[in-house]
Amino acid sequence: MIAVPDIVILAAGKGSRIRSKTPKVLHVLGGKTILEHVLDVAENIVSCDRGKIFVVTGYCSQLVDPVVRKRGHQIVNQPEQLGTGHALFQALNQIHENTNVLVMCGDVPLIKSKSLLNLCEVSGDGISILTTQVDDPLGYGRVIRDSRGSISEIVEEIDASCEHRKIKEINTGFYCAKVKTWGKLLPNIVRSKQTGELYLTDCIKLAYMKTIPIVALNGSKNHILGVNTRQQLSMLENLYQINKRKELLDAGVTLLAPETLYIFGEISVGMDSIIEPNVMFLGKVSIGESCIIETGCRIEDSVIGDEVTILSHSRLESAKISSQACIGPYARLRPGSKILEGAKIGNFVEIKSTEIGEKSKINHLSYIGDSVVGKRVNVGAGVITCNYDGSSKHATKIKDDAFVGSNSSLVAPITVGEKSTIGAGSTITKDVENGYLSVARCRQREIPKFRNKK
Ligand code: UD1
Ligand code: CA
Repeated sequence: MIAVPDIVILAAGKGSRIRSKTPKVLHVLGGKTILEHVLDVAENIVSCDRGKIFVVTGYCSQLVDPVVRKRGHQIVNQPEQLGTGHALFQALNQIHENTNVLVMCGDVPLIKSKSLLNLCEVSGDGISILTTQVDDPLGYGRVIRDSRGSISEIVEEIDASCEHRKIKEINTGFYCAKVKTWGKLLPNIVRSKQTGELYLTDCIKLAYMKTIPIVALNGSKNHILGVNTRQQLSMLENLYQINKRKELLDAGVTLLAPETLYIFGEISVGMDSIIEPNVMFLGKVSIGESCIIETGCRIEDSVIGDEVTILSHSRLESAKISSQACIGPYARLRPGSKILEGAKIGNFVEIKSTEIGEKSKINHLSYIGDSVVGKRVNVGAGVITCNYDGSSKHATKIKDDAFVGSNSSLVAPITVGEKSTIGAGSTITKDVENGYLSVARCRQREIPKFRNKK
């Protein structure tokens, strides 16, 4: 059986190399902070085992701590960032000595829980470490092996000799050992001559000298990349996007130009849906089967049913679209837009906090806000719901089968009855009865020979 790990995430560093006022672990990748990515993986590991998660924070802790607290994990303070060894040491007195402790670097966001679970499985009474081979090891701690191939030491870039720097096996920054094992090692590490820091990696050399077993597992080089610089951040973003696009392709979605699709959040798309070039998804988006998302759309926190078409350059935010609806081109659905089955929202139409009933059509140039529109309603071009009187918002109801003529203003609060008709160009200020025609505009006057008068 796997020993239940507690997890310590190291996230106290400033991350000077990223050159930012924002602490490194709060930089964003795929729409989520780096720390949140690491927390997702940690939660995945402890969920079945009820292990605890500790996050070591220090630099800008007033910004980092709320992220940790929101997710209900423990914060360990490291007010002075004296190195990764010092950081882990701060957390250990809160954990039982027989507990396995998995150490995670807070700046390695693409790591997968499977390789870490394996790491916890093999540590026993020794220490396990995840290493990998990379083409460009610059910046990583190099793994030194003795003549029998056993790991004897990790040498940091700054301390490495020319020979060491050629080594391509690197330390990924993930380790597992029992508290009592860490306790035999950490108090004995000494400050680096180069940086004055207490390196966690020095535990490996100490373990080797004390003949404490060291087990190395090989991780995938695509999962272990750390973010130290903006260049690395953009490289990881690229990798992340490639993976997300692959997931959609594998789920049976057609991407006409995969390299132009950007996903910043959680997305699911049903089979046989087609996504055209230059589309962006943000937050939590779910799209059904056989949908078409045309070029230039930006869709955020929305739920879309089956066989929906979103025509080009539409923007959706917290919207719900039922099956067979058609949106756009150039439509804007703001939060609280609910478009029911088969409804059509056309070009340059803005909808906010409004339900549009089945098979209703608002095809051109309208603003419909704080409204409930019934079934089979036709809203003509340029219709505006005047929902705001300068201080409060008011509701508009348009009942089933109503017909609102073009260029009408509906001054809310107002109800337009079932099967009623509003004449084009009307400014409607009173409720319209079921089945009535309501016209509110000046009659056309005919004045002959007008110019000649002059
Ligand atoms: C570290 C490893 C290196 C490994 C690399 C993998 C050490 C000494 N080196 O180097 O062998 O190849 O990760 O990505 O461990 N942190 C604290 N408190 C501190 C210092 C750092 O919590 O006092 C945190 C940082 O916020 C960061 C993590 O520890 O999340 C790693 O620190 P970083 O400075 O990025 O270490 P690297 O130089 O990348
Ligand atoms: Ca790092």
